[in-house]
Amino acid sequence: MRTYSLWAVLATALLGDLPSTTGQLIGGPSSVAFNTIPHNYIVKFNGDPGDPSGSVSFFAQMAALGIPYTITANYSVLLNGVSLEVDDQYNDAMASLPGVQIVWPLGISSLDATTISATSSPYFPTQSPKPMLAHNYTGVNNVQNVLNVTGRNVKIGVLDSGIDYNHPAFGSCFKTSGCRLQYGYDFVGDFFSGKNAVPDSDPFDPCQYHGTHVTGILAGNDGDFKGVAPDATIGVYRVMGCYNIVTESIVVKALEQAYLDGMNIVTMSIGFPGAWGASASGDASATLAQLGVFVVSAAGNRGKDGMWSIDGPSVRNSVVSVGSAEMAFHYSQYFNVTSDELVGIRRTMSQNYLPALNLNQVQIVRGLAAGSTTDDYGCNALPTVTGKVVLVQNGGCTMYTKGLNVQNAGGILMVVYQSDSSDPSTVAYDRPLYLPAVAIYRADAVYLINKINVAVIVTVSAGADSVIFDSFTPRAPSAFSSWGPGPESDVKPELLGPGSNIYAPFPVQFGSYGIVSGTSMSTPYVAGVSALAIEYGKSNAGNGTLAAIVNTARPQIDAASLTYFPVIQQGAGIINGFGATTSQIIFNVTSINGTFPDSDWRDFDMFFSYNNTVD
Ligand SMILES: *[C@@H]1O[C@H](CO)[C@@H](O)[C@H](O)[C@H]1NC(C)=O
Ligand SMILES: *[C@@H]1O[C@H](CO)[C@@H](O)[C@H](O)[C@H]1NC(C)=O
Ligand SMILES: *[C@@H]1O[C@H](CO)[C@@H](O)[C@H](O)[C@H]1NC(C)=O
Ligand SMILES: *[C@@H]1O[C@H](CO)[C@@H](O)[C@H](O)[C@H]1NC(C)=O
Ligand SMILES: *[C@@H]1O[C@H](CO)[C@@H](O)[C@H](O)[C@H]1NC(C)=O
Ligand SMILES: *[C@@H]1O[C@H](CO)[C@@H](O)[C@H](O)[C@H]1NC(C)=O
Ligand SMILES: *[C@@H]1O[C@H](CO)[C@@H](O)[C@H](O)[C@H]1NC(C)=O
Ligand SMILES: *[C@@H]1O[C@H](CO)[C@@H](O)[C@H](O)[C@H]1NC(C)=O
Repeated sequence: MRTYSLWAVLATALLGDLPSTTGQLIGGPSSVAFNTIPHNYIVKFNGDPGDPSGSVSFFAQMAALGIPYTITANYSVLLNGVSLEVDDQYNDAMASLPGVQIVWPLGISSLDATTISATSSPYFPTQSPKPMLAHNYTGVNNVQNVLNVTGRNVKIGVLDSGIDYNHPAFGSCFKTSGCRLQYGYDFVGDFFSGKNAVPDSDPFDPCQYHGTHVTGILAGNDGDFKGVAPDATIGVYRVMGCYNIVTESIVVKALEQAYLDGMNIVTMSIGFPGAWGASASGDASATLAQLGVFVVSAAGNRGKDGMWSIDGPSVRNSVVSVGSAEMAFHYSQYFNVTSDELVGIRRTMSQNYLPALNLNQVQIVRGLAAGSTTDDYGCNALPTVTGKVVLVQNGGCTMYTKGLNVQNAGGILMVVYQSDSSDPSTVAYDRPLYLPAVAIYRADAVYLINKINVAVIVTVSAGADSVIFDSFTPRAPSAFSSWGPGPESDVKPELLGPGSNIYAPFPVQFGSYGIVSGTSMSTPYVAGVSALAIEYGKSNAGNGTLAAIVNTARPQIDAASLTYFPVIQQGAGIINGFGATTSQIIFNVTSINGTFPDSDWRDFDMFFSYNNTVD
């Protein structure tokens, strides 16, 4: 069934992951507000987790003052505290009670991932497994194939939207003997919107792709597709339902369970914009890290907001904040353009509630306003273009207005091109419309327009498959990747992983594989490398794994200016899996304080990468 009930979620998008194949939301950066749920708090008591003295005196005082409340969660593993529903007027009173250390308003966040609401497969032809293109540059291929290190006996917890565990990349199993998915829990249920959690023991994701994609990057294993740590043992902690909403309270609960399950590594492709390190999820993450677990979390996709745009809990100093970089190549869906020659140009996926595109040599025309040779924004009624593909420029009005004009003129597909050189992303209408729409780069639109201007007929063909394209900005930080430093001036992000146009498992019902961009994708990549390093003997004691990963990362130079990208954008650089796994040279991460040494880091780079195939 095609439903639109979840579209409102897009409008309140806060964080996390892009609904796109390539980069930024066309509508611009999303909201930066740190959202909280009214009348809901997390109270942290004095004393270590499990110490009852603070809570006993707190609740005695609450009773004495006659403040009514409901406990919605108890924490005793990583946080000495509770979640409470209590009227906002008592906030100050609570904070001043004996035994209380901190009172946090309950943070809520939403991935701006597109919600998939189809439940059957005809829309999504099955895609085949393809190799991860990043593994050569990161050296992960050599770690897996030369060192034979694949994450065996390392346990990794994934906090996300759950998983399609029927996918062959995870062995089509859950918790059975020999299955790599040995742990898991659903903390939210399908319809969780902030307070209505319906937990159960089954983390299956019936509606979203996010958790399946993230876990696939981390540890998928399916023919040509190999995740970073394809033999690791996985715990799946479902903290978002079908609305992609998550709260600090749910994250703390899931972190506690991951600790109890003995995870060595925890990865979170989720975040809370505007959070400080001392948030509830930051606090619980820090305790988890002190207990020896390697904690990795997404930097966020708010690069366009500039400095200080890192999300919580990755802003916390002992949590590794992972930004995103482009690789030299990426997979993309594409058009074959036929004029006096045949070329392929990349495009985004069409809306995931519509059938995959299937076009065979359909004419493409410009969506020019009547009487104009230049106004191609599609913001006004268009001359008739029955049965044709229509090219319009981004900007000037909403996608819905453009789409409606194209549809009314008889167009069968809208192709939106960027008005600058930035990455296109999937087209989202703010109101229901069935016209398929995709986005392309400006450079490719210039090519199309030149051909349309000289050729008699220019046609496009399209299917659901993907092919490899060169990146425009190889190894640059992805434009969407959030910038540091952290709010307390920590060096954030710590480093970058491959996160632009990542081809990885999707739920079987959505075609088995798909391409998504975001720090959601780079984060499990880094978590996977830490599993390889741990299998090879790195210890997390004394920050050993962190130092190995950060010390060996490869700082990147901006090809345009020939200077290093700022540390607050790229951290220590792009993850080097071979270096992190094998390096014996460790110096403390805290000594990287915002300036790189004057020496030429390319020598350093070559030292660690001699065994890599440099792409
Ligand atoms: C929290 O702990 C209290 C005291 O043990 C108990 O009464 C309450 O039911 C618990 N609430 C939840 C939501 O676990
Ligand atoms: C990765 O390296 C291997 C071995 O050198 C090579 O066969 C393969 O084509 C490379 N893959 C990519 C995507 O560059
Ligand atoms: C890799 O290691 C595994 C586990 O120790 C072993 O079973 C396998 O034979 C090794 N593969 C190669 C190619 O050495
Ligand atoms: C594009 O053209 C290539 C080369 O002819 C062909 O292999 C491929 O199937 C075409 N793709 C589409 C979507 O038409
Ligand atoms: C690990 O690094 C964090 C900062 O990222 C620091 O606060 C902590 O003290 C370090 N722990 C050890 C044991 O060095
Ligand atoms: C690095 O961290 C370790 C573990 O905390 C500590 O023992 C050592 O003194 C630190 N080294 C430097 C140079 O700060
Ligand atoms: C930061 O790094 C610079 C350059 O390496 C060094 O001179 C300075 O002492 C460092 N500051 C701190 C607080 O570590
Ligand atoms: C580097 O790679 C080669 C094969 O390409 C391998 O023989 C050699 O052992 C590797 N070096 C290390 C240190 O693993």
